[in-house]
Amino acid sequence: MPDRKILVTSALPYANGPIHLGHLVEYIQTDIWVRFQKQRNNTCYYVCADDTHGTPIMLRADSEGITPEALIGRVWEEHLADFTAFGVAFDNFHSTHSKENQVLSTLIYERLRDAGHISSRTIVQAYDPVKNMFLPDRFIKGECPKCGAKDQYGDSCEACGATYSPTELKNAVSVVSGEKPIEKESLHYFFKLGDFKDMLMEWTQAGHLQQEVTNKLNEWLEGDLHEWDISRDAPYFGFEIPDAPGKYFYVWLDAPIGYMASFKNLCEREGLDFDAFWGENSPAELYHFIGKDIVYFHALFWPAMLKGARFRTPSAIFVHGFLTVNGEKMSKSRGTFIKARTYLDHLNPEYLRY
Ligand code: 2FM
Ligand code: ZN
Repeated sequence: MPDRKILVTSALPYANGPIHLGHLVEYIQTDIWVRFQKQRNNTCYYVCADDTHGTPIMLRADSEGITPEALIGRVWEEHLADFTAFGVAFDNFHSTHSKENQVLSTLIYERLRDAGHISSRTIVQAYDPVKNMFLPDRFIKGECPKCGAKDQYGDSCEACGATYSPTELKNAVSVVSGEKPIEKESLHYFFKLGDFKDMLMEWTQAGHLQQEVTNKLNEWLEGDLHEWDISRDAPYFGFEIPDAPGKYFYVWLDAPIGYMASFKNLCEREGLDFDAFWGENSPAELYHFIGKDIVYFHALFWPAMLKGARFRTPSAIFVHGFLTVNGEKMSKSRGTFIKARTYLDHLNPEYLRY
């Protein structure tokens, strides 16, 4: 009788948009994999959650005249209804804006800090002097410094492909207020990823990843592993950093911890043993299904964070590519963007699963 203990996750969908067919590529394959394990009589749990923090969600709630909590509550209902309709049978669908996630994020941060893996220094960033907030690169627009294309984001040009820093944009404006951003200093906190270089060199070669993924990671591992900026200034929708009032964990710090938080929530509901799955020497198996765009977070930051905070690391990460329509990315402007709900309005979801 097989009695493997397996915990499986799919990437946590952002709570600022609807589930679409691109998402379902991942959730349906994970669901099928989990159903197979359950039919084999393995103990297998499939957990997920909405990824709820960050500037876009804060600003969207603002523009709708509601609180971020109300926005993420509504989206959670919609996401779960879509998943259920497509037969995606999570054992738990939780939220990163949860008590469990706050406790675990704080614990992991404190363990990393106490082990010397957190540094802090002052950096200069673009700031909206009208809205009184620091601006993520995506909230700054201007002319490309390389080709002059108008209306380009603060990090890269969609016309010529150049990447740059927002300060290089010509005639930059804040997307939030339309005002010209100023530069302002602020103290930030960093995770010292470089402390884990040896561990990651070994881990990425140890059979946890597809060969193509290992090859990509080798490119990153050949260079320096830069310190990762894990803090954001208020106003920010997220968790405040315990020893740093007015500073919040960057959404990508607490997002993967949301896998643990969702499982913790399930454990509390069903009386399961959390440590049996997440303890440093756990014999259980842990699998993450993700898209290729978020490999860096899952195969470098995440194992390093877990190791540094004395939790187990993943057994494997299964990486898939993007759904394309006629060979191109699904696109609203080309009319090829299909929401899960639109599909359900017209077709039997079993067709897509098949
Ligand atoms: O890329 C995304 O859509 C993220 N919301 C995925 C997060 S996965 C995990 F790390 F939380
Ligand atoms: Zn350009």
